[in-house]
Amino acid sequence: MSAPTDAQRMEKIVSLCKRRGFIFQSSEIYGGLNGAWDYGPLGVELKRNLKNYWWRVMVHERDDVVGMDGAILTHPAVLKASGHVEGFSDPMVDCRICKAHLRADQLVEKKGAKQCPNCGGKDFTEARQFNLMFETHVGAAAEESSIAYLRPETAQSMFVQFKNVLEVSRSKLPFGIAQIGKAFRNEINPRNFTFRSREFEQMELEYFCRPEQGTELLEYWKEERLMFYENIGVPRGKLHVLTVPDEERAFYSKGTYDIEYDFPFGRQELEGVAYRTDYDLSQHQKASGKSLEYFDEETKEKLVPHVVEPSAGVDRTVLAMICEAYAEDQAPNDKGEMESRVVLRFHPRMAPIKCAVFPLLKNKVSLVAKAKEVVALLRPEMTVFYDESGAIGRRYRRQDEIGTPFCVTIDFETLGEKDPARRDTVTLRDRDSMKQERVPVEDLPVILRERIR
Ligand code: GAP
Repeated sequence: MSAPTDAQRMEKIVSLCKRRGFIFQSSEIYGGLNGAWDYGPLGVELKRNLKNYWWRVMVHERDDVVGMDGAILTHPAVLKASGHVEGFSDPMVDCRICKAHLRADQLVEKKGAKQCPNCGGKDFTEARQFNLMFETHVGAAAEESSIAYLRPETAQSMFVQFKNVLEVSRSKLPFGIAQIGKAFRNEINPRNFTFRSREFEQMELEYFCRPEQGTELLEYWKEERLMFYENIGVPRGKLHVLTVPDEERAFYSKGTYDIEYDFPFGRQELEGVAYRTDYDLSQHQKASGKSLEYFDEETKEKLVPHVVEPSAGVDRTVLAMICEAYAEDQAPNDKGEMESRVVLRFHPRMAPIKCAVFPLLKNKVSLVAKAKEVVALLRPEMTVFYDESGAIGRRYRRQDEIGTPFCVTIDFETLGEKDPARRDTVTLRDRDSMKQERVPVEDLPVILRERIR
């Protein structure tokens, strides 16, 4: 059988995501809402594992970063000062044939002419700027004075709350504020599954520093972030660091790296790491009239801190983890014959279900009771799935397909029926090697904890 093309691979991934409950089209029964996605039972676990791990390494394991959780509804003055009201836009054209709205900079070029991806038409309106922010109204009256926006990035609340957070945390430069949360952009052409959505989540750190530390910290955070992806199962070899050229960088940035991943649909950005100088705090200081300065106790100097910002997309990283984990290989069935299997090779730390527990037979009360004891033993520490239906081989296959790294089977040896020395031992099966080992039940929590951390 020939290897699937990238497009076929992506199709299989999207279909698996729906079939096994990772990601569904939002409002599907009403025809779907373009650019919005719902995460199902397994998707929500995967997403949570990612966010928890980010929070662990970016906040909990550091002395110099604190967290916050800002509002989504944002005062227009914040987004005026940040430049979003004026300039957060993409160039848009309309196809005169099928009336589709299209991003002017993403039109496909065929035989030297730009073409509409919907109808192949070549007749477009002039490009105009389309602001990507979702506008809403706060309160009963829908008038100019009641306008608010759904935030287009989590970053702004961390700048606006800089002084409050500084005071309550009594932090000293350099220090950071971290946030995970929803952001909204009215993308002209949402596409590539969840990659470009209109509602998505970000994991952002604003790391404040003295001006002379900015360039070095940009390098530091780029390396930290690359390491992060390796630690969640996205290998360094599939990541690329793009140094954003001067002409594409925001005018205030003194350096920006894009961390990109080789998706089946091409090399695309997962995260930006940007040295934004003192632009954001200075803008808000100017617009609000409130001081956002830092007083350096040692030098007795007041300064507006500079900031380095690693800004990652939750949904894009989840998609990268799924794409990276997806594999098809051969595995023996219950009769020992080889058959093809689909397996998600998630890093155990990220896997939605850590361990599945099976009694060998569902109609043997003592096996079922023992299996439920094992479930109760493991559940306080990890996500566990109990499954008693079907042949063991089929139960393994179902877990392989959702990326469960470990399966435990309770059999007659566990009950001590064959050899008293094997009483209270189980088989522990590894998803990737498919090797099985015999381990005492009481050692399971320690063994699994070690492998999942
Ligand atoms: N505060 C800086 C900022 O928001 P950005 O490059 O616009 O920078 C950061 O966004 C990250 O947010 C991106 O690298 C991407 O992972 C994610 N992101 C941005 N737009 C997105 C969209 N429409 N859908 C999904 N993720 C998106």
